[in-house]
Amino acid sequence: MTVVGAGNVGATCAQVLALRDYADVVVVDIKEGLPQGKALDINQMAPVLGYEPNVVGTNGYEETAGSEVVVITAGLPRQPGMSRDDLVSTNEKIVKSVTEEAIQHSPDAVLIVVSNPLDAMCHVAKNVSAWPKERVFGMAGILDTARFSTFIAWETGSSAKDVTAMVLGGHGDQMVPVVSATTVGGVPLTKLVPQDRIDAMVERTAKGGGELVNLLGTSAWYAPGAAAAQLVDAIVLDEKRLLPCTAYLEGEYGISDLYMGVPVKLGAAGIEEIVQLDLSDEEQGQLRTSAEAVREVVGVLTT
Ligand code: LAC
Repeated sequence: MTVVGAGNVGATCAQVLALRDYADVVVVDIKEGLPQGKALDINQMAPVLGYEPNVVGTNGYEETAGSEVVVITAGLPRQPGMSRDDLVSTNEKIVKSVTEEAIQHSPDAVLIVVSNPLDAMCHVAKNVSAWPKERVFGMAGILDTARFSTFIAWETGSSAKDVTAMVLGGHGDQMVPVVSATTVGGVPLTKLVPQDRIDAMVERTAKGGGELVNLLGTSAWYAPGAAAAQLVDAIVLDEKRLLPCTAYLEGEYGISDLYMGVPVKLGAAGIEEIVQLDLSDEEQGQLRTSAEAVREVVGVLTT
């Protein structure tokens, strides 16, 4: 499999995949030395943590040939004061060019887009590749859900492993944590936590990326990199996982011709099904608002 971009998110994704120990990972970046150095470092971690050294760093795409999955993390990250949408024109050019290169060498791959602004960059990858929507989608919902789940675990004093949640919509401040489908050990969140505390967690989740940018001076990478790796697992291991993904909608949830975060079933073929949750009227309305925000950014694209 291939990870394009050896920055923080790409390298973390490669590191998590290396630890999984089921396939070789090729990391590509235009910056000379960077992918080679990160690959070497990850390989040298292998004897310590106990996996086979299997990461290749390169500045070209020859080594990526025949990849089953290509994860695109290339692009500029946010800086303090920037929204994800401020990156649209710069990252459109980058995602366009790496998609062109990657698909030439791996014509049967599944493309997972991670670059921001995520929903719009999925449109770029789909338009450039002209691949079916099942094989072009984005990672955002796993990360946003992980943030929500972390806050819920802290709030309820529970293990994060027992939190079941789902964050849908665009990867922006209008994202929609589906509170009606959120449980801790099977008990609805609304029975465990007062509404004002839930509202605060929803708000912190929606602004979760920005909170990290303010702390770090750049975008987060540990959770984003691991979240991308979870999608790769679901595809390579044909897991049939039900995960929130940024998928191309054609009427599902009343939204058409737009990439948005929705629950999907993921397996070897990519998206095998878009799952329709029974949303409350309020949640359905929030999803429409989020769709409008995504459409505005997509309207800026020239690809
Ligand atoms: C975030 C960036 C990666 O949400 O979009 O942290």
